[in-house]
Amino acid sequence: MAKWIELGPESDFPAGVKKSVTIQGTPVTVFNIEGLLLAIVNSCPHAGLPLGEGELCGKTITCPFHGYAYNVETGRNVDFPDSEQPVRTVPARIENGKVEVDLEACTM
Ligand code: FES
Repeated sequence: MAKWIELGPESDFPAGVKKSVTIQGTPVTVFNIEGLLLAIVNSCPHAGLPLGEGELCGKTITCPFHGYAYNVETGRNVDFPDSEQPVRTVPARIENGKVEVDLEACTM
């Protein structure tokens, strides 16, 4: 069963936003990409550093530490999808004007 956690009003997550928060001890980065709300666990699979600090281009975020790039919707490594571990993605939605994420349903 989904366990949605409220992050704040929709107005705090306008189009183009990239916002990192900590939820119950888990770092999460939320993106609003032209109205599409997406979220990842803010930990790069390569070395555990904060991937959310990287630059976002479309749905691809590039880690500022060693340059690995990930699709924030699928979690897959853009350059090495079959050999590198994906970043964990977190279901996100807007419900009654509030942004919510479901940490329990994030990918492993
Ligand atoms: S920690 Fe992200 S590429 Fe190394």
